[in-house]
Amino acid sequence: MAFPQHFLDELSSRSDILDVVSSYVALTKKGSNYFGLCPFHNEKTGSFSVAPDKQMYHCFGCGNGGGVFKFIMEIENLSFPDAVRFLAKRANMDVPEDNAGQEEGRRRQRVLALNKDAARWYYQNLSRPEGAAVAAYLNRRRIRRKTAMDFGLGAALDSWDGLLSAMLDKGYTKAELLAAGLVVQNQKGRLYDKFRNRLMFPVVDVRGEIVAFGGRVLDKSEPKYMNTTETIVYSKRRNLYGINLAKKTKRPNFILCEGNIDVITLHQAGFDNAVASMGTALTVEQTRLLSRYTKELVLCYDNDSAGQAATQKNIDLLKNSEFTVRVLQLPRRLADGAYVKQDVDDFIKFQGPAAFESLLNGSEKQLDYRMEAIASKYDLTDQDGRLAYSGEVCQLIASLPNAVEREVYAGRAAEKAGISREAMLLEVKRLRGRKRGQEKRELQKEALNIPALRQPKDRALRYTDIPSAAAEEGVVQLLLTDPALAGQCGPLEEEDFSSPWLGKVYRLLREAYGAGRTVSLDSLSGSCEPGEIGRLAEILQRPASMSQAGRAMGDYIRAIERAAEKRRQSADPLRAAVERSKEKKGYGGKRNEQEKRRTEQG
Ligand code: UTP
Ligand code: MN
Repeated sequence: MAFPQHFLDELSSRSDILDVVSSYVALTKKGSNYFGLCPFHNEKTGSFSVAPDKQMYHCFGCGNGGGVFKFIMEIENLSFPDAVRFLAKRANMDVPEDNAGQEEGRRRQRVLALNKDAARWYYQNLSRPEGAAVAAYLNRRRIRRKTAMDFGLGAALDSWDGLLSAMLDKGYTKAELLAAGLVVQNQKGRLYDKFRNRLMFPVVDVRGEIVAFGGRVLDKSEPKYMNTTETIVYSKRRNLYGINLAKKTKRPNFILCEGNIDVITLHQAGFDNAVASMGTALTVEQTRLLSRYTKELVLCYDNDSAGQAATQKNIDLLKNSEFTVRVLQLPRRLADGAYVKQDVDDFIKFQGPAAFESLLNGSEKQLDYRMEAIASKYDLTDQDGRLAYSGEVCQLIASLPNAVEREVYAGRAAEKAGISREAMLLEVKRLRGRKRGQEKRELQKEALNIPALRQPKDRALRYTDIPSAAAEEGVVQLLLTDPALAGQCGPLEEEDFSSPWLGKVYRLLREAYGAGRTVSLDSLSGSCEPGEIGRLAEILQRPASMSQAGRAMGDYIRAIERAAEKRRQSADPLRAAVERSKEKKGYGGKRNEQEKRRTEQG
């Protein structure tokens, strides 16, 4: 896009940098220049300067700088042509689009119009018989019709050309459909719908334009989501799902989550400040977009290792930004005992909005408050005071169960104490090491003191083998709490369980995890009796030390296998005798040698 030079000169002379910057940054005059807090990085003393005589800005802190066009590109998150159009509008000037520019502008408008018509078509499908599967899926995910409407959700039909022919009928060209990324071309040149048999999520930008789509499958097939790739109207790194609605929130912060469904569930539950980075790490462009609306971000990613890694990545990115960042940690397990995949969607569904609200305000604020309380006890202008503060605040931080959280709060405390974040973290680590030693000793004590097993009232749920029962319950409890432990189960079989129903649950869990599915008590309801589910809930409610889960799992498995072996022996007297002789000899080696000799003789 080339604008005539005289136009650009005219525009820049009518867009005084001091005027423009002042509407974003509070500036004070010092000498011939103006200073303020840099809008592009986090700082407490102003190193951001504007020089009206040179019509430029520069930040001594982060190095960002340039003229008025550059400033608008950065702060409004726009491309150069769009920044020019933005400033022209402000200066009340007509933009002389050249042929290429006009043509591109026209093509963009067409694609945007096409996207809107496509979204309308997808949405209308929800009420047609062909869209019934998607409508049913929405019900299953407990997304209400009103919510679906707010987000413009829709149904891509199970057909190769449903959208293609509908949009051709509306007068769009094949080239336009390709440019929008709504259809793709096979090797023979045939066009077909990119999104088929999927729940459709239009991606709407801050201006309210539909710039892209995401589509989710209705079952477990792969890929779970398909998304519009980059187009002339869509740049993935510059958009956030839900920003069009979240920008109107009255809440003081934004919740940043991973998934489209998380955003929708949150909005439906009254958290209209949720946006999603749609499965990828946050970008600088996205943080600039966010900074227009909020200065506080609450990171609320899935509570699995991928979510933790993404959280960490985002924290690194946000370290030098103007945002206050908090991490909202979803609990591993729900109060009613059900294990759920640890994302917001599940949490809201099972625990309700109030529980989330208290996570959002309660616990975190409480921690801030406790840190403040500690700080207020000491004189932080004094070296001894800072040292004492560090010591006490480290204790608090070391008690946080989540590593990412520890890092965030350690950083904050370090700043207060005037020491490096690394030093603070090192001390936290030392304290935790000491605590772990203590825990270990306590756990060993506990192990010697296993509480008597309560036999369930329901006869079908009783155990035939009391020694194995505790271990069987333990395995199921651990597996429901942390699917990753399934990898440890190895040779343990359903038949090794003395309790047939726990054996069944064990098999169901392994099958589900093996297929990459997650399991909740709800999802087990199809294969389990209500009594069994009730019993499972009870088992899940027991405290389990997940930090020791790996070891506990090993112990349980060995206990179950040992008990199973004993049962098999008592069912087979001959074998039992052999096993007994093995036990007498202490190990299997001698017996094997004896047997070998016997066969050689015979
Ligand atoms: P998730 O797998 O957490 O999906 O991916 P989700 O939205 O929470 O879906 P449910 O709850 O399982 O239905 C998070 C986000 O990552 C992107 C999507 O934007 C998704 O919302 N993603 C995920 C993809 O782009 N492609 C994929 O194959 C999977
Ligand atoms: Mn999810």
